[in-house]
Amino acid sequence: METHGFFPAGLYRGKTVFVTGGGSGINLGIARGFAALGANLAICGRTQSKLDGAAKELEALGARVSAHAADVRKPEELAAALTTCRETLGPIDVLICGAAGNFLVPAERLSPNGFKTVIDIDLLGSFNASRLAFDQLVETRGTIIFISAGMAHMPYAYQLHVGAAKAGIDRMMQNLALEWGRHGIRVNSIVPGPIAGTEGMKRLGGVDHERRGSDVPLGRMGTVEDIAHAALFLCSPVADWITGVVLNVDGGSGLSGSANFNANAARLLAEEAGKSQ
Ligand code: HXC
Repeated sequence: METHGFFPAGLYRGKTVFVTGGGSGINLGIARGFAALGANLAICGRTQSKLDGAAKELEALGARVSAHAADVRKPEELAAALTTCRETLGPIDVLICGAAGNFLVPAERLSPNGFKTVIDIDLLGSFNASRLAFDQLVETRGTIIFISAGMAHMPYAYQLHVGAAKAGIDRMMQNLALEWGRHGIRVNSIVPGPIAGTEGMKRLGGVDHERRGSDVPLGRMGTVEDIAHAALFLCSPVADWITGVVLNVDGGSGLSGSANFNANAARLLAEEAGKSQ
């Protein structure tokens, strides 16, 4: 459902939005939402060819785009992307910290480096982006959105590493909201439920959208537009007094707990084990 038109046309005209992991999935969906409302976009990720494809899509919506390869685990690469963004598009008004890594693995098979890798991408990467964008955000009295996940608030099987990383993100979000409010910077998290067509669904829940949809109290899988709309709201002037919140955008799926996720994940792991034998 394309409903960015619900928001006033040009709501983000002239604004600069920087999206980590912006080359695909939920993050690209958020970037598209801002572009449709007039913003210019800076996107970063590890793969330049993926960023180039995403940049074309965003340009077709009228945005000026800076697509700069950067791994959020490497502060020097992020700093270079942020400088290029500032030089080409102006200081950042909105920072979306969406870069993430994930795989299903039982805790007893999670290696120290596997745990570290996800902490580095999700938690440290979100800190790096926020910290390095601080000066630009002070200038614009900007807004940060972290993309969290349900496992931050409830244990999901085979997701120890992601739960720890995302829980860290949500506490960091509250700290930044507390400390940076005096600069006029607002900081919030979005917790997406199961979103159709994303890498996360492929890795974690299988791709049976009809079956997954029936697990959700509102009766359908989410779309990337559902998440984009939440970001467009949270970064807009009508949310001017909202900071430090975790917003679930999940059709109520968090209310039914992690049992459905656990069953799907166990099935997926068993299928993969079967294939590798
Ligand atoms: C067990 C695994 C593993 C797996 C990797 N590792 N995949 N362990 N099961 N399936 C371990 C490796 O063995 C290694 O540890 C360590 O993790 C690092 O692996 P690398 O492949 O060297 O890391 P890297 O190339 O940096 O890749 C990072 C990655 C990869 C996270 C492992 O999957 C990736 O790049 N993902 C990006 C895209 C992505 O994941 N998108 C989905 C996000 S969805 P050892 O000990 O062997 O050295 C999402 C949604 C959350 O976040 C919530 C949804 C509801």
